[in-house]
Amino acid sequence: MMLRIKAIGWVLGALLLGSVTSLSVTADDDGDKHHKKDKGDGKQTSAAMPPAWKTECAECHLAYPAKLLPASGWREIMGNLGQHFGTDASLDAATIAEILPFLEQNAGSERKYAAAAGKSALRITETRWFVHEHYDELSPAVWKRVSSPANCAACHTTAEQGNYDEDFIKIPR
Ligand code: HEC
Ligand code: HEC
Repeated sequence: MMLRIKAIGWVLGALLLGSVTSLSVTADDDGDKHHKKDKGDGKQTSAAMPPAWKTECAECHLAYPAKLLPASGWREIMGNLGQHFGTDASLDAATIAEILPFLEQNAGSERKYAAAAGKSALRITETRWFVHEHYDELSPAVWKRVSSPANCAACHTTAEQGNYDEDFIKIPR
């Protein structure tokens, strides 16, 4: 029985492969692919975006893209919301259980989004990726003009919509 279900899974997987691949390419423009494991048991590997993430995690700042921290970073953040960057962002266990799986399943790779040497594992703005993509690109003078590097919308005019496309970057002057 298990074997048969597995075989059906493989066939479905092969049929769906084309559309799944093109979807993940548009969703991941920086080449960091999420591997969708089709075990043929109909289990969803990608959790839907929970409403609580938008209401609770976009209250003080925008909802940072899940992809830009590894799962280990999100677990640390969600496990320590009482002391969240100098503020109290506590949530009850049920709400955490709603948000964390979504972040984990949409997280980036542990290697690419690892903390830069000596930096915090809790900050997107201190990952190796961010350092390379941002600090190597823009002069220190530019960073003095933004309140915080974590204020993504200071340069990414469409960050609130989750769009970080280069076409919508406007460096403050
Ligand atoms: C009460 C306000 C508040 C709430 C609610 C809140 N945060 Fe934050 N968060 C902050 C502050 C303040 C910072 C530091 C911002 C800075 O350095 O400019 C921060 C920073 C962060 C950073 C690091 C940004 C960087 O430097 O890369 C992440 C990631 C983050 N928050 C995730 C979350 C998540 C996930 C939630 C929901 C569970 C959440 N936050 C809810 C206030 C909040
Ligand atoms: C001071 C301006 C500035 C701030 C603040 C900033 N960015 Fe950027 N970001 C840039 C620039 C400029 C680039 C393009 C670098 C290049 O030319 O490759 C970029 C590139 C990116 C890219 C890649 C876009 C692509 O199409 O390749 C992402 C994703 C991104 N930023 C996310 C963020 C996030 C998330 C934050 C906040 C935590 C943030 N940025 C804060 C200026 C900024």
